[in-house]
Formats: sequence, structure tokens, C-alpha cells
Amino acid sequence: MAYSQINKTHIDFFITKLGEKNVLFDDLCTQYGSDHTENLNFPPDLVLFPKSTEDVAVVLKYCNNHSIAVTPSAALTGLSGGAIPVFGGVSLSMKKMNKVISIDEKNFQAVVQPGLINEEFQNILKEKNLFYPPDPASKGTCTLGGNFALNAGGPKAVKYGVTSNYVLNLEIVLCDGTIFWTGANTLKNSTGYNLTQLLIGSEGTLAVITKAVIKLLTLPSEKVLMLVPFQHNTEACDAVSDIMRHNIIPSALEFMESDCIKFVRDQNYSQIPFEIEPDIDSYLLIELDGNNKQQLLLESEKIYHLLSNYQCGNILLAETSTEQEKIWKIRRSIGLAVKSFSTYKEEDTVVPRANLAKLFTGVKKIGKEYGFKSICYGHAGDGNLHVNILKDGLTDYQWSHMLTDAIRRIFELCVDLGGTISGEHGIGLVQKEYMDIPFTYENLFLQKKIKKIFDPKNILNPGKVFV
Ligand code: LAC
Ligand code: ZN
Repeated sequence: MAYSQINKTHIDFFITKLGEKNVLFDDLCTQYGSDHTENLNFPPDLVLFPKSTEDVAVVLKYCNNHSIAVTPSAALTGLSGGAIPVFGGVSLSMKKMNKVISIDEKNFQAVVQPGLINEEFQNILKEKNLFYPPDPASKGTCTLGGNFALNAGGPKAVKYGVTSNYVLNLEIVLCDGTIFWTGANTLKNSTGYNLTQLLIGSEGTLAVITKAVIKLLTLPSEKVLMLVPFQHNTEACDAVSDIMRHNIIPSALEFMESDCIKFVRDQNYSQIPFEIEPDIDSYLLIELDGNNKQQLLLESEKIYHLLSNYQCGNILLAETSTEQEKIWKIRRSIGLAVKSFSTYKEEDTVVPRANLAKLFTGVKKIGKEYGFKSICYGHAGDGNLHVNILKDGLTDYQWSHMLTDAIRRIFELCVDLGGTISGEHGIGLVQKEYMDIPFTYENLFLQKKIKKIFDPKNILNPGKVFV
């Protein structure tokens, strides 16, 4: 597909429709060419900031008629290159559509625009004692629209589920400018195909989401956090399903190799309020939440008891929110600390929870074979391990020659273990060449046909998800 180059007529059209302040071109576009994925940079020719659904419809209709590539974006914190305009054209930034339109306290629902920052939404809800659980590590900067595009998870998914579990209905704009709602504002719905859920996780390739109706919960009032050091990685992995088999569902159950914490310390992302003991391989961060503190303390005692079967170091129990926040800050900084340590490649592997130890051991074995060091952390309760392959001491030649094969081996292992190649970061640009691993030809063919129905001219986020 050949896309039209942006020219002055196009720019003038968008300025007339959106206003001068909402149209960026030339050098002002540079920073919109990268996200948090390794070192990619594909700046758009134009950045447009719609302020309403109607603005989005005007832009899409025009771009569709003129064959201009449109890449929806917002915070650009993604980890698979999904919001990077690889064909240039328009970066459609949803940043200015960032309002909470309404909160319905009786029905536990909110209507939001996609440019709203995840944590800002959480904070608004908190004041009303309401709760929206999905909170990716980048919650302070990432937007809800990005979370919808990738079906984001984050630490709380182990108890509360992922983004798709909270999206009831979507207002979308198709590539020809048609606007409609995908479903209904109900908790149950068995009416026709579920377009709402098809859109969640579709990475801006099918339509642009302009509003969402979100299901809310009440905010749990109490939390307890445990940080458990393990002498053996595989024991840490096995303890995860052991805890859950004992009828305890933590609100977070995170795994971190101890190198992750050293990186956070050494790259000055956070102070570490405990000693990293030398014989410790990894840590589990276990959070329990609810409304009854005594009950949570009883559950944490049950976990202490259960962990006496494992070789653990001193368990840290954080009861106050200040102590807990310090530990969470370390956990949330790992991604950026790894990124600033070395050139790296991040894989968002996911397997059924009880297969986590096999995945971890397999990744390290593949690392030995190919000569790379990896550093792993992630949402162990979901079997979701972020595998960071480090370039570290490897030469450029070694790095570029082994990487694709090594990643393929890791992904094949995931699929052999009943898992898949991305749990929450999406496919975007950088994982699309591996889509033949989790899917058959026929499956991919059907997915591509769906894309074609929604977007026959392939103007929406081209170059993503499929090769
Ligand atoms: C995290 C991001 C990388 O879990 O998903 O920190
Ligand atoms: Zn994650």
C-alpha cells in the first residue's frame, strides 16, 4: 500500500478543522516517533490532537479518502512499538481527550475518554471510594486508551483481572468516520458478536476508541505487603501456585530476580530499604487486600507458614502505606532501570501459572546456549514473566546474529508450555514476525480478514500486529 505524503493542502485542512494549536508538523513531530520500546524512532509527518469524537471522525474520514496512514497514540509508554508511526503520516494523539465524562455511583460505572492518565482516574475514583484495578507499572503516565489498545494488565490482574474485564461498552470511530457504540452499559450481554472485546487489545488497528464505559468496584480499605527473598528461583516460581492453591488470592504476586533490585539501586531509581542478601536469587512481592486487617494478617501468617517449606531469607512485612509505596516504587522502576543499564530486548512471555518455573529455567538454558544474560521479573501470579535479554558485553555482531533465533526459541517454549508470546505488552511492531508461533496460518488468515473488513485501505496503524 502506498500512502500519500503529507502536503500543505492536508495541513491546511487539519488546521481549519482542529485549530492551529492542535496540529504539529516539521521538527515538532520528532518526539512522537519513539515510545518506551528499545531504541526505535519513526517520527510522523503530522501530529493531530482531536478534542472530540467528531474531530476524530473528520480526521479519519479525510485520511481514508486521501490514503494517509494514521497511528493512534497518547502517552507513548508502550513496549512493543505499537504507537510508532512506521509509515509516517499522522500520529493521532488522544492526549487532549482526557476527561472523566461521568461517574455513576449507583451503577458502579464511569464513562471516560481515552487520553485520561490511568493514575489520575484511580485518584478521582479513590475520593468516591471506588476502584478501577488495572494499574500497569507506567500508571503515572500511561493513558486508558493505551491500556484498551493493549488489554493492559499490571500487578493487580492476578486477583482482579485485566483491562478487558472492566470495559463494558465503547464508542468507536471507524476509518471512514462512522461513529457508534459497540455494545451496552450492562454487566451481562449475550447480544450478537462482542465487538467491545474485539476492540480491546486490537492495538489501534481496527478503529479509534473515543469513549469507554468502565465497570468499577469498591475500594478495598486495607493492604498488607510481604517481600519474600528466595535462595532458589525455581522455588520462588513454585511458591506462587502453592500460595494460590491454599485458597489465598493475593492482590499482587510479583516475581523479581535480585538483579532487578540491584539495577534499580545502581541506576538510582530508588533507595532500597532492606539489605539484598548475597545468597538470594529472587524475591516474591505478595500483596493482600480487603476490608478486614485482621483477616489479612491471618492470611499473611498462613503464607509465612507455607513458606517454611522453602529456603527463604528474612521476610519483610510492610503494613503502612508509606512502607508499601517504597517497595512498589522499586518494583515499578525495574523496567526503566533495565532500559538504562544496557541495550536490551524485552519479551512479555506468559504461561499457565504452574509452568512458570519451567519457563524460567528454559529461558536461562536458552540464554546459556546463545550466550546472553537475561534478567526476569513480572506478574508471577498470572504466569507472566518479562524476560529482558541484555546486550551487556556482547558485540554488535553477536547481538544481531543471535537475537531473532533466541527469541523464537523462547516463544516456542512459551507455546509448548501452553502459553503465548505476549501477556500484556502487545505485538505492535517488534513481535509481529513471531505471530506464526502461537497461531496457525488459518487463524492468522481469519484475523487479517477481520482487519480488512474494518479498514480496507489499511490506514489504521499500518505495519503492526501482522507481517
Ligand atoms: C512492568 C511492565 C514492564 O510490569 O509491564 O513493570
Ligand atoms: Zn508488566
